[in-house]
Amino acid sequence: MEISSKDIEGMVDVHTGRIHPAIYANAELYELELERIFGRTWLFLCHVSQIPKGGDFFNTYMAEDPIVVVRQKDGSIKAFLNQCRHRSMRVSHADSGNTKAFTCPYHGWSYGVDGALVNVPLEPKAYPQGLCKEKWGLREVTRVREYKGLIFGNWDPEAPELEEYMGDIAWYLDGVLDRREGGTEIIGGVQKWTIDCNWKLPAEQFASDQYHALFSHVSAVQVLGAKPDGDDRHLGSGQTARPVWETAKDAVQYGERGHGSGFFFTERPDANVWVDGEVSQYFRDTVDEARERLGEVRALRLAGHNNMFPTMSWLNGTATLRVWHPRGPNQVEVWNFCIADKAAPEQVKEAFERSETRAFGPAGFLEQDDSENWTEIQKVLRGKFARSTKLCLEMGLGNERMRDDMPGVTNYIFSETAARGLYKHWVDLLVCDTWAEVHERSRSYELELVK
Ligand code: FES
Ligand SMILES: [Fe+2]
Repeated sequence: MEISSKDIEGMVDVHTGRIHPAIYANAELYELELERIFGRTWLFLCHVSQIPKGGDFFNTYMAEDPIVVVRQKDGSIKAFLNQCRHRSMRVSHADSGNTKAFTCPYHGWSYGVDGALVNVPLEPKAYPQGLCKEKWGLREVTRVREYKGLIFGNWDPEAPELEEYMGDIAWYLDGVLDRREGGTEIIGGVQKWTIDCNWKLPAEQFASDQYHALFSHVSAVQVLGAKPDGDDRHLGSGQTARPVWETAKDAVQYGERGHGSGFFFTERPDANVWVDGEVSQYFRDTVDEARERLGEVRALRLAGHNNMFPTMSWLNGTATLRVWHPRGPNQVEVWNFCIADKAAPEQVKEAFERSETRAFGPAGFLEQDDSENWTEIQKVLRGKFARSTKLCLEMGLGNERMRDDMPGVTNYIFSETAARGLYKHWVDLLVCDTWAEVHERSRSYELELVK
């Protein structure tokens, strides 16, 4: 069976709030996603702090394609398909490191850090007819750009520039990247694990779903929340004792062009129950600088969830930045980075890493709750009838509006504006051949939402 554009359009109805669960479990759709979504959008590769010197490299993926990101001798950054042009072996195997060349372990072809094929063993004997090495360099990722320390790649020469692609999500992302002079860095290594679920489940949750936290994370909240005997400071002094949704004054969701974000308005710079005392203290100590750089709203925005379409997610305050690398329709490989202000003292960086791993590492007490939901959903979707029974995406339908204090289309935090936007953008990319059409559709949809 071949899926038509009409079929795809029929799977997502943002006007009535309905989605067809086949979007999470169909192999044919997945192949289309690799080409039309992951082949065209800006994908997070790594942080500049992970490749500081010439010859430094970091191995990652753009969807299923292995990619090596390399700092060049002149300080610029290039990214290549990590695929030997002889028989497709990976040429770079370490997670990261420093090198002068990438030598393929299969037959020894060797490539410079600029991707050029520089050495072929026994070349005169093996290729008596001659081998034009200039033709057989590593395939270079079409475009690589940096945004405040984060490096992104894109295969599509027609795609909008990175900042235009980001749109208003950049304002929300700056709340993490730009709190202090000097920017951010990645603390420690990268935690990697797989979850048996479609990539859109976690991406949508980080874009749009604060709603689950009240229920899915209730046991964590009971352990860490306020106690009748006042014994509610388990991790150090200064955390907000009660979950932020109980104490917040207001709460917002933002959703536009497939991106999404949500957070609570608080009055305290340490409104987070999941982190060590050193982290809470650090947020109190640095709130003035953050306020000066970002303004009141973002300086106090410490309990936010976010996803930049398609697969880069982060949480304010708890320092997790992650990519959901798709692995077929039924699996994601999570890459979890701990991101913190470069200017933070060493012991605070350690506390960030401890806190982040405890909550959102592979065995994190919040991560486990989320993963269980996603893997259970994916199991349910094995069922023939489950795969064809429509799902409700109606929350907050029709209540979108613009606000003066933050950019973009917003709604109350417990809504599905960002989820509807994510699936709408997913459809638009799958069915439109040009970015001009994609933009036209997004623009008219967003205008319609806030009219
Ligand atoms: S596959 Fe790389 S040298 Fe043969
Ligand atoms: Fe969660």
